[in-house]
Amino acid sequence: MKEIIEKIRTEALKAIEASGDLDTLNDIRVAYLGKKGELTNVLKSMKNVAAEERPIVGQMVNDARTEIEGRLEAMKKSFAAKLREQQLKSEVIDVTLPAKRRAIGHMHPNTRALEEIEDIFVGMGYEVVEGPEVEYDYYNFEALNIPANHPAKDEQDTFYITKDILLRTQTSPCQVRVMEKGKLPIRMIAPGRVFRSDEVDATHSPSFHQIEGLVIDRNITFADLKGTLEQFAKEMFGENTRVKFRPHHFPFTEPSAEVDVSCFKCGGKGCRFCKGEGWIEILGCGMVHPKVLRMSGIDPEQYSGFAFGLGLERIALLKYEIDDMRLLYENDERFLKQF
Ligand code: DAH
Repeated sequence: MKEIIEKIRTEALKAIEASGDLDTLNDIRVAYLGKKGELTNVLKSMKNVAAEERPIVGQMVNDARTEIEGRLEAMKKSFAAKLREQQLKSEVIDVTLPAKRRAIGHMHPNTRALEEIEDIFVGMGYEVVEGPEVEYDYYNFEALNIPANHPAKDEQDTFYITKDILLRTQTSPCQVRVMEKGKLPIRMIAPGRVFRSDEVDATHSPSFHQIEGLVIDRNITFADLKGTLEQFAKEMFGENTRVKFRPHHFPFTEPSAEVDVSCFKCGGKGCRFCKGEGWIEILGCGMVHPKVLRMSGIDPEQYSGFAFGLGLERIALLKYEIDDMRLLYENDERFLKQF
C-alpha cells in the first residue's frame, strides 16, 4: 500500500512539472484528487489494510494529497504570472516615440474677408442677418421686381427644386424678408451662400457667397449710399482708395450703379493686377425701387433706402491676391496655410 501511494505521489508530481497550461493542471487534479481520483481510490480500499496500519496509511495519503495540492497551486500561480508577463509585453507603449504632429486648421480667406466686412458695417451700426438658402421664387425674383421672362429666371442659371422653390441665386431675397417684418428703420447686412448653375472655372462656381446690404429710413438719398460705400472701401482696401460709381441696371434698384475701387496695388496707374485699368469692380448697388418697397409693405412716399450686393469670393481674391477662385474651394492645406 505504501508503495502504491508513493508511486501515485511521484507520478502526480511529475505530471504537474510536465504540464504546460491551466487546463492540464485541472485534468491532473481530477485524475489524482477527484472523487474517482487515484488517491481517493486508495482511501476507499482502506478496509483491506490492517487496523494498526490504517493511521499510518491515512497519514501518508493526506501528506501526499497536501503535497500534490501545494504543487498544483504553485504551478497555477506561475502560469498566471507568465500569462500576465506576456500580456504586459504585448501591450507595452514606447513613450519615447516622437508624437504625430496634428495639423491645425487655418482661417479660410473667405471667412477672414467676411469677418472684416462684417466688422466694418457693424461699426457703422448695421445688424447682421441671415436668410434661407432654399428660397421661394417669390422672394428670389418676384418681390425684387424681376419679371417672369427675365433671363436670370431661366433654368440654365437657376437650380429649381419645384416650380416655386429654388436655391437662391442671390442674397437679395433677404432684403424682402427684412422689409416684410415692418420694423423701421432698417440697417442690415446679410451674408450667405448663393447658387447658380455655372460651370467651374477660375472666376465661376455653382456655389459662392454674397453679402447683401440694405438701409431704409426717412430721407435716405444716393449721397448716403455713396458716402457709406466710400467709407467701406477705404476701411477695406486702404485710406487712399477712391471709388467710382458707374450707371448700371438692376430690376430692384433705381437708379442703379456698379462700384469700382481704385486699384490698391498700383493706386490707379494701371498694373497687371487691375489689368491696366487702374480700377477694380467690387459691387452692385442702387436706391431701392419704389415697387420693391411697396410690395414689401413700405410706403415709398414716406421711406426710401439703398441696397448693395457684393461677392465675397471676389473680395477675398482681390484682398489676398489669389488668381483662381477654385483655390478657395479645394481646401488644400498648403494653400490655406498662407493666410
Ligand atoms: N443681387 C445682385 C446680383 O446677384 C447684386 C446686387 C446688385 C444686390 C445691386 C443689390 C443691389 O442689393 O442693389 O448680381
